[in-house]
Amino acid sequence: MNRKSLLWWQEAAIYQIYPRSFQDSNGDGEGDLPGVISRLPYLKELGVDAIWLSPFYKSPNKDGGYDVSNPRDVDPRFGKMSDANALIEESHKLGLRVIVDIVPNHFSTEHVWFKAALNSKPGSKERDRFHFFDGRGDEGEIPPNNWCSIFGGPAWSRVTELDGRPGQWYLHLFDSTQADLNWKNEDVHKDFEESLRFWLDKGVDGFRIDVAHGLVKDEILQDHRDPEGLTRALRLDVSDMPREQRESLLSDVPFFDRDGVHEIYRKWRKIFDSYPNDRMSVAEAWVHPSYRATLYVRPDELHQIFNFDFLIAEWDAKFLANAVDKTLQEVAAVAASPTWVLSNHDSPRLVSRMGGAESGERKARAIALLTHALPGGVYVFQGEELGLPDAPLSDQDRQDPVFFRTNGVDKGRDGARVPLPWNSNQSQFGFTTSKPWLPIPSDWKDKSVDKQAHSTDGNNLSFLRLYQKSLRLRKLFADSEFHWLTRSNEVIGFIRGSEYVIYSNTSGQAQQVSLPESFRAFEIILCSAPNDLAPGPGGLSLPPHSTTWVKSVR
Ligand code: NOJ
Repeated sequence: MNRKSLLWWQEAAIYQIYPRSFQDSNGDGEGDLPGVISRLPYLKELGVDAIWLSPFYKSPNKDGGYDVSNPRDVDPRFGKMSDANALIEESHKLGLRVIVDIVPNHFSTEHVWFKAALNSKPGSKERDRFHFFDGRGDEGEIPPNNWCSIFGGPAWSRVTELDGRPGQWYLHLFDSTQADLNWKNEDVHKDFEESLRFWLDKGVDGFRIDVAHGLVKDEILQDHRDPEGLTRALRLDVSDMPREQRESLLSDVPFFDRDGVHEIYRKWRKIFDSYPNDRMSVAEAWVHPSYRATLYVRPDELHQIFNFDFLIAEWDAKFLANAVDKTLQEVAAVAASPTWVLSNHDSPRLVSRMGGAESGERKARAIALLTHALPGGVYVFQGEELGLPDAPLSDQDRQDPVFFRTNGVDKGRDGARVPLPWNSNQSQFGFTTSKPWLPIPSDWKDKSVDKQAHSTDGNNLSFLRLYQKSLRLRKLFADSEFHWLTRSNEVIGFIRGSEYVIYSNTSGQAQQVSLPESFRAFEIILCSAPNDLAPGPGGLSLPPHSTTWVKSVR
């Protein structure tokens, strides 16, 4: 792979900010945009190239802001439009690019369009912007089809008509407060194009596109053969589902990854390209089989698609090497560049997913160093760099609609969304001066930024110092080629350019590896685990569950 002349986003490290939990500036217990501005120097120091902000738009906040009631305004809980302008400006001054979320699959039921739809008759142009249909049954009491919401429960809710009688149903693939938009309606196209231009004119460098594969729906009035199985498969709740059943369900989802969606992105690409300075887009699209993801990043469509293989990966050499191979081959077929995601606001935190406690931390550090050394863009979710685990929460604290719509069967995603601990000496660890919207565990004191920033033991770096180093050092081989050196059941090794070798040992025992000829003299530049890695003649003994970066010395 020739990786010369990279565009800024192709090997960028992009830091995801969940604004509600990042930094509170006005003492209301929730993070806000001025809070983000105050922490930009921290992000610069971390070594990331860009920030991606989860939604801060006007929203009743029934789904953490992914229920947008005005995509061209800032919600007062996050600040004012002048704060958004200042955030873009201040980030740029520091050399940080800014990516914002766009949520085109649905609008909040508080959006003026939905209110207008409720005040209009069935068949009206106001209703046509959403998916409104009559119900089935004698009284229209049965939803138009049997689809389930991905958050649990039915995908349809019934409205009351102006005369007070139970009326039509509208589609919501997520919460009942998130009404799916009808992308066959021209108003919808125009409105999103206006939103894109609105933020592009303000200087944002890109967009993260929420549910990018969901906009077009087929066969909307037909029942699905197994709607509950499909929902479980989509939510990865598949431990007891045979593989063939899962694959068959996911290979044809009537509301995801329909061919018609690509026409929308071809139009959007023209808008991005009409602006200077390489504006970009990254799609959130869980599609099956995985090669279908590449269709979204064809040269005239979007720039990147999140690769979620590592978000659900095991710490297993074979599994990881296969995932890397598959990803690199697939993106190469459309001349796109890969992305890597270890965690985000929708998934368990990395340390917890790797098993929690000390062993989970050790594996999390190792998989992070492996990921940071791969060619492509790396997405880092806030707090991942601190090695935060999922926070234990009581059910009274939970706010995720997933918890409520599954009657508590699925605890939801709040555990990964708990505010960050900044300062071990301040109350609420410096996140807020009042009660945070989700409680911060008291044992996060030792994980606070101030404690980690000052860890100086070079052989046992804190999580934060490890991320700071790897995010900086990865720039050394950012545009160099990738080749495998070894792929065994325990060890993955590859070379970047001619000077850097990366080895991961996923086993519980030390593993001996030899280095290429040209590495007769070498230096260990980073290791995820404490070690006594004195360079020996031609080889190395890799500590258990670790990743090591080696540089040849000529
Ligand atoms: C994906 C977002 O990441 C998630 O947080 C949200 O709940 C759904 N899309 C619906 O917008």
